[in-house]
Amino acid sequence: MDRPSWAPSEVDLSRPSAARVYDFYLGGSHNLEVDRSMAREAISLWPDLPAIMQSNRAFLRRAVRHLAGQGITQFLDIGSGIPTVGNVHEVAQQASPDARVVYVDNDPVAVAHSRAILAGDERTAVVHGDLREPEAVLEDSRVRATIDLDRPVAVLMVAVLHFVRDEDDPARAVATIRDRLAPGSHLAISHASAEGRPDSAESHQELYRRTPTPMTMRSRAEIARFFDGFDLVEPGLVWLPLWRPEDPSSAGDRPERMTGFAGVGRRR
Ligand SMILES: C[S@@+](CC[C@H](N)C(=O)[O-])C[C@H]1O[C@@H](n2cnc3c(N)ncnc32)[C@H](O)[C@@H]1O
Repeated sequence: MDRPSWAPSEVDLSRPSAARVYDFYLGGSHNLEVDRSMAREAISLWPDLPAIMQSNRAFLRRAVRHLAGQGITQFLDIGSGIPTVGNVHEVAQQASPDARVVYVDNDPVAVAHSRAILAGDERTAVVHGDLREPEAVLEDSRVRATIDLDRPVAVLMVAVLHFVRDEDDPARAVATIRDRLAPGSHLAISHASAEGRPDSAESHQELYRRTPTPMTMRSRAEIARFFDGFDLVEPGLVWLPLWRPEDPSSAGDRPERMTGFAGVGRRR
């Protein structure tokens, strides 16, 4: 198989990746046939998937706009993905032109493409890092050079914690980061859950077992525990479309079809 120019040499072209499959759902161009075929198989089981991904991305934009509106000018986006429309630095810098953003991802295509579009932008940094190694993320020299951890930071873990298995202790990773945050910092999370569609959850998780990042859907109660040490801001931990919708009628009449919970917490 020919390696596309945007795929660094360490990319395994024979296996789908969560980052590239998500890019395909969002209409991006940094994906391979192996990703598209997994996505099509998933859509045939669960036709709402592209809408779910759009709904997740829309939550990310609303959360960043809300946080920027609270005066936050520093963002640490872990599991940031392949850049697409409405990237965090674009939304944050619209509200506050000097906002600083660090993107962290463990997918080589996400890192390479982020570096390509952000080259020369001193208000942003891109780190090849892993949420399962939170100490290394916090100590990374680019993180330290871009963000002052002694001032409030918004940490974004949007559609990433479900790629950390229970045995890798995602709660410890979140707590390690929380303990390093200044008061007034915030944490935004969205997370896949089977609660809205228990019938198709297992088949979807089965598909992600093909990727290097299998998916663990969690219950609302399990996701709420990631906010230990934070106070959830209104409206709490809710189905994706219900988190501060710009137009309440856009949330649809069955928001649980979007099968993900979203919330933002303020560090105590
Ligand atoms: C579904 S995408 C979400 C992208 C973006 N946060 C959004 O919501 O639009 C999930 C991203 O998390 C990344 N990821 C998965 N496990 C990770 C880990 N342990 N550490 C860092 N990134 C991870 C994947 O590579 C992928 O880019």
